[in-house]
Amino acid sequence: MDLYEYQAKDLFAAHGVPVLPGDVASTPEEAHAIAQRLGQTVVIKAQVKTGGRGKAGGVKLADDADGAKEKAEAILGLDIKGHITRKVLVTVASDIAEEYYFSFLLDRANRTFLAMASAEGGMEIEQLAVERPDALAKVPVDAIKGVDLDTARDIATQAKIPAEVLEQAAEVIVKLWETFVSEDATLVEVNPLVRDPQDKVIALDGKVTLDENASFRQPGHAELVDKEAEDPLEAAAKAKDLNYVKLDGQVGIIGNGAGLVMSTLDVVAYAGEKHKGVKPANFLDIGGGASAEVMANGLHIILNDPDVKSVFVNVFGGITACDAVANGIVAALQILGDEATKPLVVRLDGNNVDEGRRILAEANHPLVTVVDTMDNAADKAAELAAAGV
Ligand SMILES: Nc1ncnc2c1ncn2[C@@H]1O[C@H](COP(=O)(O)OP(=O)(O)O)[C@@H](O)[C@H]1O
Ligand SMILES: [Mg+2]
Repeated sequence: MDLYEYQAKDLFAAHGVPVLPGDVASTPEEAHAIAQRLGQTVVIKAQVKTGGRGKAGGVKLADDADGAKEKAEAILGLDIKGHITRKVLVTVASDIAEEYYFSFLLDRANRTFLAMASAEGGMEIEQLAVERPDALAKVPVDAIKGVDLDTARDIATQAKIPAEVLEQAAEVIVKLWETFVSEDATLVEVNPLVRDPQDKVIALDGKVTLDENASFRQPGHAELVDKEAEDPLEAAAKAKDLNYVKLDGQVGIIGNGAGLVMSTLDVVAYAGEKHKGVKPANFLDIGGGASAEVMANGLHIILNDPDVKSVFVNVFGGITACDAVANGIVAALQILGDEATKPLVVRLDGNNVDEGRRILAEANHPLVTVVDTMDNAADKAAELAAAGV
């Protein structure tokens, strides 16, 4: 889960990373009140989960409370790369002597954690990595040893942080590592980490991604979820413990096992090229034990997606054999009754496939077409979806 800047900075503050005072507002009036309370020049910042807000007009200075209200009015509702701004952060404006870059992330390719740091921050990190690769220090972090002050000094030195603020930067780096570990984050990024004219090092921006696999031991993280911005279908799926991701196509997908579902997305996208360019409408992995209830929950979510024109159920029978899955599909259609209105293409293979196909043939449900290979089933599902668009 990605956090908003203001949430990231709340976590920073809780772990002792220096940030500037501020508060979040949903209306221009609230922005006015916060600016009045801060009583100095403020910055109004769009709270959207994407970078480049500065360039997009989502970060503006205001001299006083009236100015803050005016700037908040301009920024609230602003569309930044497809993200609508619903909240702004009103925070103290800082004078900036230098801008640095710092991040900790999970480096999956190298199976380790990685610190990335540069004395040349401010610009987008992707751009820095391409244009000035030498200026970007990449330092692997041993998960067991972690980051103590010595390691942090070494990272800051490699990043060419100036000597006058090196010790302070190292202290901030240690606190960012504490944030990363104790919050179960997979990314903690500060761009820019600034040096102000008084040589104070402060996090002016913050980006944090939390690892949802750790939510069982992070009870406080539940309240960081932005319920308003959540996709309603994804929220409903989460409530039923389904692994569902909404995509922008027309063919609903249900499969068992993440790998099978991923390859189903590929074959449907490929088949769709011949059928008006239809695409997968979602990712949904119902996992190993595809009981009738789980199947019904999955179908319920997908059939309620107005973009879905056909559904492809792609199941490989393993421990849960094909006959159990077929019974699950038949029972799910009974549970759903009139709610099931879109054509279903079913491909079964694996353990007890013959019995599974026999059960579906016997049920002879008018919406169900059984196809024996994955490619042919993808083609059929794409064709049916194209007929509905
Ligand atoms: N509190 C602040 N005081 C002064 N300048 C700021 C402040 N916050 C941001 N800025 C300036 O705006 C730029 C963009 O803000 P930032 O928070 O990094 O957003 P984004 O990365 O989305 O563009 C920063 O690089 C910095 O120069
Ligand atoms: Mg930034």
